[in-house]
Amino acid sequence: MATVERDEVTGVDTTGHEWDGIRELNNPLPRWWLYVFYASIAFSVLWWILFPAWPSSTGYTPGLLGSNQRVELDTRLAEARAAQAVFLERIAAADAAEVAADPELLQFAMAGGERHFKDNCAGCHGLGGAGQLHYPTLADDAWIWGGSLDAIQQTIRHGIRNEDDPDARFGMMPAFGDGILSRDEVTQVTQYVLALGGQDHDAGLAASGQELFELNCAACHGEGGDGIRDLGAPNLTDAVWLYGNSPAEIATQIARPQHGVMPAWQGRLPEEVITMLTVYVHNLGGGE
Ligand code: HEC
Ligand code: HEC
Repeated sequence: MATVERDEVTGVDTTGHEWDGIRELNNPLPRWWLYVFYASIAFSVLWWILFPAWPSSTGYTPGLLGSNQRVELDTRLAEARAAQAVFLERIAAADAAEVAADPELLQFAMAGGERHFKDNCAGCHGLGGAGQLHYPTLADDAWIWGGSLDAIQQTIRHGIRNEDDPDARFGMMPAFGDGILSRDEVTQVTQYVLALGGQDHDAGLAASGQELFELNCAACHGEGGDGIRDLGAPNLTDAVWLYGNSPAEIATQIARPQHGVMPAWQGRLPEEVITMLTVYVHNLGGGE
């Protein structure tokens, strides 16, 4: 049986617990600690009464103040939407050119366009339309399909070489390695493409390549190789490359071309968002 005794050194009662000769003193809890403890109990009871707290079988106790953060969030979102709705409605009622010409709408469209571009486009085209291998830069003056507001909007609406939209932009370069050109001819025309782009090349091979180019390539890429937009055939003279500018990469593109695909956004994004994206891309720097 544990017995309660008075400790001689401190004059405090022990609890009667003893371990290997060490006895536990029965000091009272500090006052300040106790008061904080009672205060927090009182606080929590008050909280249960005023705010949503306890779950019940049908829901929860709502609290006297009727506070509800979900409702608060909804209200604030609704306010923000109402503030934006004015602009969104005006943008929905206007075409891209009208939005671009109105400083207020332009500012709103640039901010909205940037956000939607990050969400939907930057994965392929890079932040700010910086582009990457296989995905064109949208911030420069080099346009495959066109950099006017109308051309950009058409590209965004219908996409490129996708199977979902019958109005998608379309243009296919044949695989010249499949029996159209011999290996040597591919090498020659590759040297000519290097020459067109102002790169180091073998002049002799490029001269025979030029004839091949006029016969096989000019119909799509133009006589001077500066591209034909209706066909989506890129300019080969502008030092901007989708698929790389080394002799090996160019030869591969001629023999077994790669083709870029972009989804259609009409139907996926609301019309006013497409308008904002159009204005945004046009304003990235290369708009025509
Ligand atoms: C899945 C990847 C992908 C996504 C996502 C994508 N694009 Fe593209 N986009 C491409 C490719 C690939 C091309 C170039 C196709 C080609 O070879 O002609 C392209 C071309 C374009 C062009 C034409 C560029 C020119 O030089 O004429 C525009 C404009 C464009 N994209 C805008 C957008 C916008 C705006 C979005 C977002 C709503 C977007 N793209 C989303 C892949 C994508
Ligand atoms: C039927 C039209 C057509 C013909 C003919 C054609 N091309 Fe193309 N070419 C294209 C298209 C379209 C693209 C873009 C492919 C893409 O982006 O998906 C392209 C892309 C290229 C590229 C890649 C450009 C880049 O930016 O990386 C090179 C290089 C090229 N063609 C060279 C040639 C050569 C050389 C010939 C002739 C031997 C040729 N093409 C014939 C339509 C054509």
